[in-house]
Amino acid sequence: MEKGWLPVEPAQRTRDIRYAVRDVLLVAEEAKKAGKDMVYLNIGDPLAFDFSTPLHMIESIERAMRAGHNGYSPSSGIPEAMEAIRGEADRKGIRAVNDVFVTYGASEAIEIALSSLVNRGENILVPNPGYPLYTAVLSKLEAIENPYLLDEENGWQPSLSDIEARIDDKTRAIVLINPNNPTGVLYGRDILEGILELARKHRLIVFSDEIYDKLVFDDLEHVSIGALADDVPILTFNGLSKSYLAPGFRIGWGIISGRAGELQNYVNAMLQLTRARLCASHPLQYAIKPALEGPQDHLPAVRSKLMERRDITFERLNAIEGVSCVRPTGAFYAFPRLEINEPDEEWVKGLIRATGVVPVHGDGFGQKPGTAHMRIVFLPQPELLETAYSRISDYVQAHRNNPAATI
Ligand SMILES: Cc1ncc(COP(=O)(O)O)c(C=O)c1O
Repeated sequence: MEKGWLPVEPAQRTRDIRYAVRDVLLVAEEAKKAGKDMVYLNIGDPLAFDFSTPLHMIESIERAMRAGHNGYSPSSGIPEAMEAIRGEADRKGIRAVNDVFVTYGASEAIEIALSSLVNRGENILVPNPGYPLYTAVLSKLEAIENPYLLDEENGWQPSLSDIEARIDDKTRAIVLINPNNPTGVLYGRDILEGILELARKHRLIVFSDEIYDKLVFDDLEHVSIGALADDVPILTFNGLSKSYLAPGFRIGWGIISGRAGELQNYVNAMLQLTRARLCASHPLQYAIKPALEGPQDHLPAVRSKLMERRDITFERLNAIEGVSCVRPTGAFYAFPRLEINEPDEEWVKGLIRATGVVPVHGDGFGQKPGTAHMRIVFLPQPELLETAYSRISDYVQAHRNNPAATI
């Protein structure tokens, strides 16, 4: 008798990896098939809406390809890109820069930095709510996610007392996402100073994810935490996906700052990993220098569109009884709180089926137990947002009066 294969068992380390942003798509597909008019508020990709990549970046890649830059590049990146990233670090005032490396999106820089640091059983402080990539990478590494609270009552700023209470002898680093995904909030300088103090006291590395640093509103200034210290080991992550409207390029980078002597072994480990995966996409790296040093005039236009959409979002959501929203100050996300009596995942799925409006449930980003939220991406055009918020408002009202209602 021919022996068949047993079902192939995936590794246990993949069991807890979830990516809620894509999970809701299954329900959205059902709703679409059922004939609903869909409004997608779950996609953090500006190119899915009325934003486009600056042309000079595209042209620089075409030129690079025609010039034959289609082989492997040096593992840390091409010299002109690394120099441009150092220049950017300088403009941001990041102190004591040791090294920079170019990666396949900021995502790969984050993965390399975590993989080179954390051992099985050690823990990393990650913001709660925060971006799910960190959870996924830590699961892969069989390391422990140590979630610290962002305080909704304090405009979603990190709670320094909660951070300190969660540090133990196996805590290696603290992750900051500034401005944050999913709350859309920029951190104040005092909070950054407070985090540096904790890092010094407990010898933690700081990972600062600044992928939305140029998308800040109301004339607020983004401060890189690396600009506030030269004695703390800091990894600053950024890339072309958000501020430079090119997520499909998959180009990001890491900036390593701090005292060289203390960092040397860790830097060597990171460089070892960059060599093991050969290099980031070679011709695409030729967009980095034109992006960082070329015309920046897309940025005021993007910010002003986003601010208008932020205002609509903030006003319309807060006008709904049972929904309250902290005012986003950066990125393109809002994370309104929902007064509901069921898990937000169920509530959001109900909303999608009934209205065709697709946010992501708060639970997918982590949140304080007992609270419920949804994440809204406010990249869509104002008319679409208005439609979405009217439908959400109708749904909330119908649902509050009668939880079984489908409107
Ligand atoms: C906070 C945060 N970090 C990193 C990323 C991924 O960036 P990249 O496209 O450069 O890999 C995202 C994407 O949404 C994000 O929101």
